[in-house]
Amino acid sequence: MRPQLLKTRITDLLGIRHPILCGGLGPRVSDARYVAAVVNAGGMGFIVGAGFPDADEFRNELRICRELTGGKNFGVNLYLSRQAGGAERVKEQIRILIDEKVACVETAGASPEAVVPLLKEAGIKVLHKVPAVRYAHTAVRMGVDGVIVVGNECGGHPGIYQIGSIVQAAQAPREIGLPVVIGGGIGTGRQLAGVLAMGADAVIMGTRMMVADELWIHPDIKAKVVAGDGSESVVVKSAIRDHHRVLRNESAEAVLELDRAQVTEFEQFRPHVMGALAHQAYVTGDTRKGMIDYGHAAIFADAIKRVEAIFDEIIDDAALAMNRLNALVT
Ligand SMILES: Cc1cc2nc3c(=O)[nH]c(=O)nc-3n(C[C@H](O)[C@H](O)[C@H](O)COP(=O)(O)O)c2cc1C
Repeated sequence: MRPQLLKTRITDLLGIRHPILCGGLGPRVSDARYVAAVVNAGGMGFIVGAGFPDADEFRNELRICRELTGGKNFGVNLYLSRQAGGAERVKEQIRILIDEKVACVETAGASPEAVVPLLKEAGIKVLHKVPAVRYAHTAVRMGVDGVIVVGNECGGHPGIYQIGSIVQAAQAPREIGLPVVIGGGIGTGRQLAGVLAMGADAVIMGTRMMVADELWIHPDIKAKVVAGDGSESVVVKSAIRDHHRVLRNESAEAVLELDRAQVTEFEQFRPHVMGALAHQAYVTGDTRKGMIDYGHAAIFADAIKRVEAIFDEIIDDAALAMNRLNALVT
């Protein structure tokens, strides 16, 4: 394991060794074992709160993570639905994570307004994830501790504007006074060094980590990510303004047809986008069906490796990148 090379506002805020966050992976992909591996390797990981059949299972997962990390800080991802009552649904999860002394939360989806006071009162650090800097300003006003900005290349939800990560990495630290984390297509240390040079405080990764040895998903999925170069990634659901970057498969093709036909009725999308299909794919390794979040960073996922080995590579590459820059200075 590499010693601390980079100290930023995010390493200080979260008490972590490296400015590397691994975003929540759903449905129930980033479990206690994976998140503990991320934390033990010196980063911050997030167990996805959504998708647990009941409160006890969620609580149990948090306890397992606490045990596997030997009591170190770890995080939970909370999805805030834009539909009425979305924030209410996560309040039960919040009660549990406060009880279980979770250190930080990655919020995503709708505005975190309804949940920030609860979390802050309990001393939990809140990082709100947005797909465009314009939304980060609102999160700052709500009192979050930092913002995560993901660009168009990201696996998952790149937002309706689909602005690239390199643009947002340069923009976000200029506009946002709080600690900034940049994601979307990140998988190397040279990108980490570049993002820090632009004024950000950390990176967040999702797709790059799908090949982590500690992730429970079927080995065939990991093999597919290793073989992929990112060109298998496609944005679907644009017709319903819920842009989603996923692996191009049968379901994605069917949804693209609906997008082309400008269908706006969700019921027509439902059979192709149900979370159960993706979960099934992660269990069986058959990736033909389901929305499997998948971004361009697959190009950097060249082998199945332990989280710590992935982090070591990233830190070494960041150090090389910084040396290259220093050598250019006249
Ligand atoms: C397989 C997978 C599942 C994901 N699931 C979620 C999720 O449930 N909630 C969430 O907020 N983000 C989710 N994301 C997004 C990641 O947390 C992270 O923001 C994103 O992957 C960063 O971009 P990258 O994929 O280019 O590294 C997922 C990403 C992947 C690759």
